[in-house]
Amino acid sequence: MHRFPWSRAAAVCVLSHPLVLWSVDSNSFIRHLPKAELHLHLEGTVTPETLVELSARHDSTPLHPAQAQALFQYTDFSGFLLAFKAITEQLRSADDYELVTWRMAQRLADQGVVHAEVYVSVGVVYYWRRCEFEPLFLGMERARLRAESELGLSILWIFDAVRHFGPREAARVFRKAAELRPQFPSVIGIGIGGDERRTGAEPFRNLYMEARDAGLRLTAHAGETIGPEGIWGALNIGAERLGHALSAIQDPELMGVLAERQVPLEICISSNLRTGCCLLPQEHPVRRYFDAGLMITLNSDDPALFLSNLEDEYRLAQESFGFTQEHLRELASNSIEASFLPPERKVEILRRLESLE
Ligand code: HPA
Ligand code: ZN
Repeated sequence: MHRFPWSRAAAVCVLSHPLVLWSVDSNSFIRHLPKAELHLHLEGTVTPETLVELSARHDSTPLHPAQAQALFQYTDFSGFLLAFKAITEQLRSADDYELVTWRMAQRLADQGVVHAEVYVSVGVVYYWRRCEFEPLFLGMERARLRAESELGLSILWIFDAVRHFGPREAARVFRKAAELRPQFPSVIGIGIGGDERRTGAEPFRNLYMEARDAGLRLTAHAGETIGPEGIWGALNIGAERLGHALSAIQDPELMGVLAERQVPLEICISSNLRTGCCLLPQEHPVRRYFDAGLMITLNSDDPALFLSNLEDEYRLAQESFGFTQEHLRELASNSIEASFLPPERKVEILRRLESLE
């Protein structure tokens, strides 16, 4: 796994430096920025400790902490997907989904996150676990409602299909989202994750149109492990918001289109470095995207698997990519504008954001 110059050890060094006051102020500024997470997988928030707890609920020989830790070790993107699958396999009941949703919500609120749009891998539940999703969803909903009333945190769900399981499996995921949406307006949209190297966006075109007609918002992981063609493909099937879009930098024409249309990009820097999709921090295009006027947001993707969280991503942008506090305010503002929240709530949060000293 990649080692980082901005590891926690490096952060501790800052404490003995004259810049310490600036750093503390800066942390406080980031903490208090009202911000949204738009690219966060519920399963990727499950820590090894919670995994041990879940296993104790279900397994006759429960996972040992060292075994849980071992599940989180991976060296490349394919290994990461296997770790993600292993975690999802431990989520078996509505109570499990309620527990992990509540813990996720607490951690988000602790970081000053006021709104989250959370991917849930319904595709994995159907394909690998072969069980109904709706009973599990009720557990997520219980925790969502509690988060809203006790933490003031709003959550919307995005049902994620696994692209390399193919369109037939994705259809089950998207149609379940469409079926649940009238009763549960928190089901806001759909997306495709998984391995782009095996399946592009085009096979999902009709399903995306059908989902749009059902009132669902459209997202897609795109250009994470493959080139700009993956991003063109996602735009061509109507995706409104793109996850990663790491390879857009290779295509000037695409950069122009993304800037002109202000397509929101869900940028996940630590994720890209830890999966090896981006080999070196200095090669990450986040700053070049910002300078080219693209509509970027910062996100943590799978915080438990990438040993990061949203605050860390903002700090990383500041310390390693030269974003100023005003830039960070703009990124937080982008996260609210690019969300699928109703306009009144966007305006309310944006006002708070602008008045933060
Ligand atoms: N990319 C693809 N598949 C995923 C991801 C991701 O960032 N996170 C969880 N499944
Ligand atoms: Zn993702």
